[in-house]
Amino acid sequence: MDAIQLKDYTIYLGPLQESLPGFLKQLSYSGLFVIADDNTQEHCLPRLEDALGHSNFTLIRIPPGEAHKNLDTCRQIWSGLMDRRAGRGALALNLGGGVIGDMGGFCAATFKRGIRFVQIPTTLLSQVDASIGGKLGIDFLQAKNCIGLFQNPLAVFIDPAFLETLPWRELRSGYAEIVKHSLIADAAQWERLRKLRRPGEEGWEALIAPSLHIKKQIVEADPFEKGQRKALNFGHTVGHAVEGVALETDAPLLHGEAVAIGMACETFLSGRELGLPEKDVEQITRYIIEHYGHHPLDPGDFDAYLRLMGNDKKNEGQQINFSLINPVGQAAVNRHCTPELIIESLEFYNSLS
Ligand code: GLY
Repeated sequence: MDAIQLKDYTIYLGPLQESLPGFLKQLSYSGLFVIADDNTQEHCLPRLEDALGHSNFTLIRIPPGEAHKNLDTCRQIWSGLMDRRAGRGALALNLGGGVIGDMGGFCAATFKRGIRFVQIPTTLLSQVDASIGGKLGIDFLQAKNCIGLFQNPLAVFIDPAFLETLPWRELRSGYAEIVKHSLIADAAQWERLRKLRRPGEEGWEALIAPSLHIKKQIVEADPFEKGQRKALNFGHTVGHAVEGVALETDAPLLHGEAVAIGMACETFLSGRELGLPEKDVEQITRYIIEHYGHHPLDPGDFDAYLRLMGNDKKNEGQQINFSLINPVGQAAVNRHCTPELIIESLEFYNSLS
């Protein structure tokens, strides 16, 4: 069992059974609630129940997926808490991926001005990214994570055993954030990742821990994303736009797949804007194509990409905000690129096949 101590809370990495029972024992709470969706109820709740032993809890079950990360589902969660007369002393356990963590946390942090909550992320993406750093929220009027707040959980429990039920495509999506962490903050880790034959082959735990250490350092230095935390957006300016357009098609991309495309484009931009050496641009983009394949971008969508990038909530003023890298392992935030250069980066990606 590995424990990573942040200023306000601890991340426990290892079997739930070894850490959660002791943690709950030293807490007093008036009611225990588990927020899960149809998938995590089936695949993950049994493991949580083993760890909870005889503790009574109320299950609040919500429909799965980003399409339900909205006010209607919040109403369902808040009603579940009201039905059981949850008071300020209640505790919520959010069992699921990023949607459950963000939305369950949001509902807990706002219910009766805030009840305590614990994150139990069950996807690789949420284990290395969403569950730490205190970002909570829901989508509103098609704007992703538009309503929300920063609020830390009481603790995070990361049990790699939950990953065993996930398809490879889902794991590979989460792995994109692990790659990103190395490129923005740890060149030695990037060298190690490059040498892996198949990521996760020897267990995910050894890859999750270094990523958590990187994210911990960044979010503690800049919890409210005023500066350095924006480094975590590397690959996401283009990536979110590509994800948004693909969502409207019958071949949507997973978040990490879109971020992989975004990282390839933004590596090119790092070469042009910051002078990232050509050999690094070549090496990183080749790695991305080897692991994520090549998904040609339709030039007919380029305007839509630019529009979406222009609407990103991370922009200030009219300019599109990027976090780029140079050298590998170091990020530069608040960089701006012209629409012409952004389009060049999309064409560069298309030329990689
Ligand atoms: N997912 C990026 C962040 O937590 O800031």
